[in-house]
Amino acid sequence: MIETAIEAAVEAGRFLKMSVGKFRHVEQKEGQETNLVTEIDKRSEEIIISKIKQRYHHHDFLAEESGSHDTKSEYRWIIDPLDGTLNFTHGFPIFCVSIALECKGEVVLGVVYDPNADELYTAEKGRGAMLNHKPIRVSTTSSLIESMLVTGFPYNIRSNPDHAVEHFNNFLMEAQAIRRLGSAALDLCYVAAGRFDGFWEVALNPWDMGAGVLLVQEAGGKYTDFRGFPTTIYQKQLLVSNGRIHDKMVEVLKRAM
Ligand code: IPD
Ligand code: CA
Ligand code: CA
Repeated sequence: MIETAIEAAVEAGRFLKMSVGKFRHVEQKEGQETNLVTEIDKRSEEIIISKIKQRYHHHDFLAEESGSHDTKSEYRWIIDPLDGTLNFTHGFPIFCVSIALECKGEVVLGVVYDPNADELYTAEKGRGAMLNHKPIRVSTTSSLIESMLVTGFPYNIRSNPDHAVEHFNNFLMEAQAIRRLGSAALDLCYVAAGRFDGFWEVALNPWDMGAGVLLVQEAGGKYTDFRGFPTTIYQKQLLVSNGRIHDKMVEVLKRAM
């Protein structure tokens, strides 16, 4: 199954890279001016689903653009065919494909492919996390002032949901630096690879997080809600870190809750 996920992610990712600047239709989603979808997102999703269905036609799917296809299988593929759509529409080369597989409700496999950097991130439950087939680990930074953190903002940021702006300000005052890439799946992979020390975001969907959360956990990192409690990819809040700075990040988040 991991080979299938890799083939699908790489094929779709190459298609995305080839399609920069060539899309024709940009639509707004849910009436939000900044939440966009192009025909490339949809085509990428078709590529992925048809590849998986060739081998596993009886499996379930939860895919961002086509929703859920429920066949009552114990396996369910969770797919973001283009994470970083806004970057993609600007030709800003930070976007990826994210594919996770759940078995009986637990994520057991995650694949993220970044076609611009040609980086393939893979994880299988209990077997570690890899970047281009080599093992990766989270960083060992233990203080916030030495930490490079990352975050993202929801499309309705103008209404400041869940104090997103206050959290950002609070971390600005504590961390060494904060970055904002615009692709949650890659933010998670970068934590897994030790490039970032921590990542928080107020509202994500299962397809943004499914694969990346497993990558972080398999690379030795920690995943909770903003209060430090265990959570699942079906809850919106996400906090991941190298583990060492986790409690410190929770303290900062608690200031604006
Ligand atoms: C978005 C990206 C972004 C995050 C948004 C997501 P999309 O996904 O992951 O980094 O801040 O919340 O919706 O729409 O580009 O697939
Ligand atoms: Ca996404
Ligand atoms: Ca997407």
